[in-house]
Order: sequence, then C-alpha cells, then structure tokens
Amino acid sequence: MAADASILHVDLAGLTLANPVIAAAGTAGYADELAGVAKLARLGAVVTKSITQAPRAGNETWRIVPITGGMMNAIGLANMGLDRFLEEVVPRIERLDIPVIGSVAGGSIDEYTRVAQAMDAAGVLPAIELNVSCPNTDDGRQFGGSPELLSELVREVKDVVQRAVLFVKLPPSTEGISTLAAAAIKGGADVLTICNTIPGLALDPATGKPRIARGVAGVSGPAIHPLAVRLVHEVYRDVAADAGVPIVGTGGVMAWRDAAEFILAGATAVGMGTALFADPRSPLRVIADLRRWAHRRGAARITDLVGTAAL
Ligand SMILES: Cc1cc2nc3c(=O)[nH]c(=O)nc-3n(C[C@H](O)[C@H](O)[C@H](O)COP(=O)(O)O)c2cc1C
Repeated sequence: MAADASILHVDLAGLTLANPVIAAAGTAGYADELAGVAKLARLGAVVTKSITQAPRAGNETWRIVPITGGMMNAIGLANMGLDRFLEEVVPRIERLDIPVIGSVAGGSIDEYTRVAQAMDAAGVLPAIELNVSCPNTDDGRQFGGSPELLSELVREVKDVVQRAVLFVKLPPSTEGISTLAAAAIKGGADVLTICNTIPGLALDPATGKPRIARGVAGVSGPAIHPLAVRLVHEVYRDVAADAGVPIVGTGGVMAWRDAAEFILAGATAVGMGTALFADPRSPLRVIADLRRWAHRRGAARITDLVGTAAL
C-alpha cells in the first residue's frame, strides 16, 4: 500500500503535505488545541487563526450565526497577539506532527511585515498565509481590494521572510480576481488561497436587526462553493498555471465532491472551515474519499487531476 499512501501527496511550492486537505484559517483555533479532537495530525496542514501584532478582543456578539447553506461570521480578528502566540502557542505547535501555517493580519504593511518576520524567525511554521481581507488603517482600503496595494504588501513581506513558504489568501473579488492574483504573484506569492468569506447580511424579521451584531458579515460554507470554484478556475486558467503557482481552493468543502471540484478547476489543495464546525471529523472522510476518487479516475497521483476539468 506504499504507493497508495503517496497518491495523495502534494507539493505547495516546496511545502510537502501528506494529503491535500487543510484546516482553513480561523476554524481550528491556534491549531494546537484541536490536536486531540479531530486527529488533526492526519490532515495535510492546519492554518492558525489570523494573528495581529497586538491582542484584539474582536467584535461584539453575536459574531457567528448559522444560515441556510453555511454560516456567517464577523469575529473581528479576535486573537491573543503576536507576543503571546510566540511564547505560548509556538512551543506547542512545535510538538505537533503536522505542518502549521501561520496566518497574518494587520492594519498596515508595517504590521504585516513585523508579524510575518517574527513568525518566520521562530523557525517552526513552514508557511505563512497573509489574510489580506483587512482594511489599511491609513486610508480604509482593503489590502486585497487593490492590485497595487496588494503587490506592495506581498513584496514587503516577501523581503523579510527568509524560510517560510508565502501563501496569499485572496478575497472573493467577483470582478478581476485574476488581476489580483497576478498582483500577488508579482509581489512574490508562492501559493494562492482562494478564497476568504463573502460579505453578506442576515436580518432578524422579528426585530429588523442584523443577526450578527456588526451587521455585514462573512458568508462561508456550501452557499459560496460554486463561486469559489469559479474563482479558482479563472485564476488557474489566467495566471496560476503558467506561473506554476499552486492554489488552495477554499469555500464550502463539506464532502469529497466539493474538494474534487476544486482540484478539477485548478486547485492543488483544499481548505475546510465551516465543515469543521458541523463535524470536526469530516476532513478525514474527505481524505479517504479523495484517495478512492483518484483511483477511480486512474490517477497515479491526485495532482495529475489538477486543472483537468473538461471545460
Ligand atoms: C468562524 C470563522 C473564523 C474565520 N477566521 C478567519 C481568520 O482568522 N483568518 C482568515 O484568513 N480566514 C478566516 N476565516 C475564513 C476561512 O478560513 C475560509 O476562508 C472561509 O470560511 C471559507 O471556507 P469554508 O466555506 O470552508 O468555511 C474564518 C471563517 C470562519 C467561519
């Protein structure tokens, strides 16, 4: 069965994963606390929740609500901040037998570079993912909302990161996702994660108030899956395939079929977030079912199926 085990191996710009299923940012805490619960060690990798320089309390509750077709959240980047992350979490991550990807967020290019540089210097996280769905405190523009700003951000971070593979997680821009992707690649992105949550609004008919305290919040789960597959397809076709930049397809993967769609559309790996809330063991089923799918499709390696959609 040795050949069988390697059928699921994937290479993300030098980061080798035992299988292509990754716990998406913010949905497995700091990556260390779920270790016992979900047999996390059998996933391909885990992304931490996004870390900022200073601790953040996040938004008022309610911050997460279920909706038909998934959930909505406006956590507001609640996290313990860089210093505690390095002191308390990194030593625990070091003992995990799984690649942990550090997610970085910030309100300025300076904040991103400081957090990314410190995470990289710790030498424990083989990859860093930039969550660029954050507003720049100088002008309110989202880093992922402007190709120029995104390119500059990625370039500055790339300059200070010595060893970690650099993932850039794009927002779900329905217009011009390929331009954004090209800008991230130009800045030095090694891997693209597509995509973050999609802004939505859920209202309570009894009160007329938003169901999430902050109002507009990020939609995730099956409701966003076909859109995310389309974005992966476009980026793969327009820029990523030629540039040789792998994609992590994220959005509404609940079962193997959803993961397979991402792979056919051009993703080398897939992220799972909302599914972990419904059933923390669901990624393990997806991994086993992807192996069967690759066999059925006659693929020696699952990566042979990347971007092979019959479009
Ligand atoms: C509760 C919750 C918290 C999240 N926190 C983060 C985060 O800290 N950083 C980030 O880049 N994405 C975060 N995300 C977005 C997910 O990583 C993922 O991109 C999105 O949920 C779509 O995938 P899914 O449909 O499988 O959940 C969060 C999502 C949820 C549901």
